[in-house]
Amino acid sequence: MMSRTEPMILSAFTEAGSSTINHLSWLYPSNDPQFSSPRFWTHLARTLDEGGFDLLFFDDRLAMPGVYEGSVEPAVRNGARVVKFDLLGILSLVAGCTSRLGLGATYSTTYYSPYHVARAFATLDHMSEGRAAWNIVTSLNQNEADNFGVSEIVPHDERYDRAEEFVEIVTGLWDSWDEDAVVDDRIRRIFADPKSVHELNYHGTYWSARGPLTVPRSPQRWPLLLQAGQSGRGMTFGARWGDMIFFNPGANVVRPGQDLVAAQRTYAEIAGHMAAAGREPESFRLLPPVFTVVAESDELAREKHRLLTAAPSLEMGLIVMSEVMNFDFGAVSPDTPITDELLAACSSRGLLESKVKVLDPEGTGTVTVRDVCSYSGLGNGHNFVGTGPAVADELQEWFEERGCDGFAFTATHLPGGYEDFVRLVIPELRRRCVVPDVPERGPLRQRLGFDRRFQQSPVQRAES
Ligand SMILES: Cc1cc2nc3c(=O)[nH]c(=O)nc-3n(C[C@H](O)[C@H](O)[C@H](O)COP(=O)(O)O)c2cc1C
Repeated sequence: MMSRTEPMILSAFTEAGSSTINHLSWLYPSNDPQFSSPRFWTHLARTLDEGGFDLLFFDDRLAMPGVYEGSVEPAVRNGARVVKFDLLGILSLVAGCTSRLGLGATYSTTYYSPYHVARAFATLDHMSEGRAAWNIVTSLNQNEADNFGVSEIVPHDERYDRAEEFVEIVTGLWDSWDEDAVVDDRIRRIFADPKSVHELNYHGTYWSARGPLTVPRSPQRWPLLLQAGQSGRGMTFGARWGDMIFFNPGANVVRPGQDLVAAQRTYAEIAGHMAAAGREPESFRLLPPVFTVVAESDELAREKHRLLTAAPSLEMGLIVMSEVMNFDFGAVSPDTPITDELLAACSSRGLLESKVKVLDPEGTGTVTVRDVCSYSGLGNGHNFVGTGPAVADELQEWFEERGCDGFAFTATHLPGGYEDFVRLVIPELRRRCVVPDVPERGPLRQRLGFDRRFQQSPVQRAES
């Protein structure tokens, strides 16, 4: 008996490059290596669109990993997040061959400008008939700063202060054309009513923009806003702006096998931030990133999982960890214990601490860099492994027990990881009425039931 009436949200979460979030995926014989070909992306998007996914969402990083050993050489050799296409190029391509799939891209509030982001996403929203989504990130990495000629990364909380102003401008610009502004009156020679197109005249501490935007009101008015801040400041920001929040329950895992409990705890924590910000529960959705390995039999699925995780790469783990932590783990022995001093040198201390906590719940202080960096799994996120019905059972349990409102599925390899899911799991979810049999069409925001408070933009709009 279904205890929830709203459908489970199915998002694909991958990278616009040579690997998935499972950075070893390019090594698998069944992984398609043609990532530079348009057909690779159109096939992937059609698979998701026709299969019943709600969203294709790309992460991003504006630099190759170059912190480990102070060089990009190990990353290039290992194929560690070194190919990153511009996301909106790919999403514009696939908008034309899909009809209901949401199209999500990560764009940085630190290295892009608000006007540029507002225009790019409003354009994608028009070209996809209301399916654009923006994952708002503040960017945390020194390599990114180096690529944009910034000598030092902006401190953590200040990045979010800048992001608040950034999003105020972006949403203000999206609101700068009223819905009925274009009149196209050829007799009176009036293209658009000047009273319906507004300057913004925003002057903040960090950003300014005059407006109006050069793109008329888009089908969703505001493309869907995605956010994944995990710190207190990040969650407050997400609680103000996010429609869909991605969260990592890792910090709340205290015992192996307790992932659902951790997800429930993190869900309750974020829902608390939302309530404190005055948000109604139906105005947001919370999704954890997860992997699924699914096959026709349980033995086959377990064997696939074993093969996918059989060749861990310590170096891959060290490269990726060094990038996220802004600390060169090549400068210390892998057998160094993770002490307070080491934690203090890392820029995402909380993330590393949470990994240490999972490995050493008693706090014995014996966890080493090798333990944390050994790339023994598919990446961050719970692994659901089994037959279609078994995986559907678990997903349904997480959903109904309020561990989440849906999932950001990170594929083991492309396109097979998603093809298996569409073939074996989605029919099971449909049979249980967890997702609709015939998915709705129309603008993403409306289709997913986001009851956004559109009555007043947070920016005081200056009438022109
Ligand atoms: C599912 C998920 C996806 C994320 N995608 C990106 C990304 O594409 N680019 C990025 O710079 N950060 C990404 N992040 C990092 C977050 O935006 C955030 O910076 C990080 O979780 C640390 O939280 P904090 O910023 O509140 O300290 C992602 C995090 C999660 C959980």
